[in-house]
Amino acid sequence: MSSSPSFSDSAELDPQLLPAHVAIIMDGNGRWAKKRLLNRIQGHEKGAETVRTIVRTCREIGISHLTLYAFSTENWQRSRVEVEALMLLLKRFLVDERSELMENQIRLDAIGQIERLPEDVRKQLQSTMQLTAENREMTLHLALSYGGRAEIVRMVRAIADKLTAGGIRDEDISEETVSRHLYTAGIPDPDLLIRTSGEMRISNFLLWQIAYAEIFVTDTLWPDFSREEFLDILQAFQKRDRRFGKVKE
Ligand code: FPP
Repeated sequence: MSSSPSFSDSAELDPQLLPAHVAIIMDGNGRWAKKRLLNRIQGHEKGAETVRTIVRTCREIGISHLTLYAFSTENWQRSRVEVEALMLLLKRFLVDERSELMENQIRLDAIGQIERLPEDVRKQLQSTMQLTAENREMTLHLALSYGGRAEIVRMVRAIADKLTAGGIRDEDISEETVSRHLYTAGIPDPDLLIRTSGEMRISNFLLWQIAYAEIFVTDTLWPDFSREEFLDILQAFQKRDRRFGKVKE
């Protein structure tokens, strides 16, 4: 994906070819702040505004699932000040967005080691998840203290427990079994994975689930990522020839 967007309109999208699930690695908040001689926290604050814009856009055009990589298992190693600021931003988002999530029929979900989050954040997360549980138009999945390898270890343990208890036999373990024991059980795999800020890495995100996702990397830093560029990527996605390993007839 080039870094020079050409500004599409949502009317140009084919509703039949929309991705059911878009996953985004939101990268570049720190660099965005540095370029403006601001601190990293201000970059995250601006990044949270972009989150609002992209959630609204997904709802507007009819994308059913959006997963945002908001905090990785590795992010705990950042400075205490930055971790606390990110937790505060998250808590604020969870409270402030309630009315908009309800108005737009968006369900909030979280994947990751939720038990590691501070208690006050967990409380607000549970409240927002409960409040929005019956919303059916779209689901926003926040990946929080999420790591793909940790998710796979958790899945292996869950299946091993069932094997030991005699609940399943080893010959019954299939790709489906694996999928059903991940955080994302019941959610379609992402069709489209976007990463901002130009890095060509997966960074431990949805390792199993992105097997056939179309990947778009843009040089734009997350705080600068716009509705227009998102629509551009969706248009480009619709032009990709998705073969899932097969040969086109
Ligand atoms: C990566 O940028 C971004 C993060 C580690 C956190 C993402 C958080 C937000 C977008 C805001 C809060 C989220 C919600 C859902 C309200 P980076 O800091 O690694 O950037 P850099 O690579 O330029 O330093």
